[in-house]
Amino acid sequence: MAFISSGYNPEKPMENRISDIGPQHFTEFLQPVIKKNFGKWVYHEILEPGVLKHVAESGDAVYTVRCGTARLMSVTHIREICDIADQWCDGYLRFTTRNNIEFMVEDEGKAKDLKKFLNDQKFPGGSFKFPVGGTGAGVSNIVHTQGWVHCHTPATDASGTVKATMDAVFDQFTDMKLPAPVRISMACCLNMCGAVHCSDIAILGIHRKPPIIDHKYLDNLCEIPLAVAACPTGAVRPSKVEVDGKDYKTVAIKEERCMFCGNCYTMCPSLPLADKEGDGIALMVGGKVSNRITKPAFSKVVVPFLPNNTPRWPEMTDVIKRILTAYSEGANKYERLGDWATRIGWERFFEVCDLEFSEHLIDDFRDPAYYTWRQTTQFKW
Ligand code: HEM
Ligand code: SF4
Ligand code: SF4
Repeated sequence: MAFISSGYNPEKPMENRISDIGPQHFTEFLQPVIKKNFGKWVYHEILEPGVLKHVAESGDAVYTVRCGTARLMSVTHIREICDIADQWCDGYLRFTTRNNIEFMVEDEGKAKDLKKFLNDQKFPGGSFKFPVGGTGAGVSNIVHTQGWVHCHTPATDASGTVKATMDAVFDQFTDMKLPAPVRISMACCLNMCGAVHCSDIAILGIHRKPPIIDHKYLDNLCEIPLAVAACPTGAVRPSKVEVDGKDYKTVAIKEERCMFCGNCYTMCPSLPLADKEGDGIALMVGGKVSNRITKPAFSKVVVPFLPNNTPRWPEMTDVIKRILTAYSEGANKYERLGDWATRIGWERFFEVCDLEFSEHLIDDFRDPAYYTWRQTTQFKW
């Protein structure tokens, strides 16, 4: 395509430059009933899966219809969302912190009609475009990352694993039959962009092989001390090698100390470690962010490795469904997945979920690992 200037002058890059203006103020986009009753809400109800009602002091009510999105979306799709907002909601809409869409209307009948309309929209492949749900004690959208769509450090894909998982747990998105909400999150490497460390169920991309060292270019491409300092286990040290009769400053990696985190690659382009067979996913469970009843908790690794079986990750969705079913059958009302596992004991959790326990799951990272071992005689056979 021929170049079309926006008016920016590359000869004078700082001329007419606008900076530090920040985001637009949210009040410019508030739906009118919400604007009028801001800070004066009295109560809310969930009328049915995906439909909320909020009532204000003034007696005004607003009905919210929540529907799933794939997060990664085209401008065509956004325009379609805007068309729906124009047609039903005077042009107003919003996105949630789990990347669902919320459309707000002022009347209950209209909310139910909108739910039906949204559930009728499909992509040519047959998938729902705007499945309504994500409220109450169910499974809402999966918070996820870039994967093979855009990042350079992933050990798995985000959009693919998430679509496979949401398909497997779709019934729980459109319903509210679990003991408590189940948050599923996904990160394609252990930078853990997002919420995997604090979710009920977490999908995490992991490597199983140490980095390859590109000795010839390392010193030119990397700040060596940064790569050294990047390693959590002290596996990287500065060194010198001779390649084709030339001396190069580089690093050496003690492979038996490396646990394949990939942090040194993040700091140094000459230490790539992605590998088709080696890479895969780990599953973690039992994290939460809220302070309800029990304090917030980290999720814990319960499955050390499952293969990247593209495009549908069947081994992964199998285990996730098994965990979800065992939780749904075993937990008390209001009990989050981690609360349930803690109450019944993790030894029982592995039994009811039919998960294999291996040495990979035993913490061995520095002093704090000790506190994860059992310093009591209390356990169940
Ligand atoms: C023993 C000597 C040195 C050590 C241990 C050292 C260590 C480091 C470390 C650790 C950083 C990363 C800082 C960060 O966290 O962002 C850094 C950055 C840097 N150092 Fe050094 N440095 C040394 C000498 C030098 C010298 C002599 C120069 C230049 C004449 C230099 C130029 C730089 C520059 C330009 C950066 C920034 C690179 C960037 O982030 O783009 N350093 N150095
Ligand atoms: S989790 Fe890792 S691989 Fe995924 S987007 Fe974040 S940094 Fe990139
Ligand atoms: S991958 Fe991680 S553990 Fe291995 S050498 Fe690099 S920083 Fe250290």
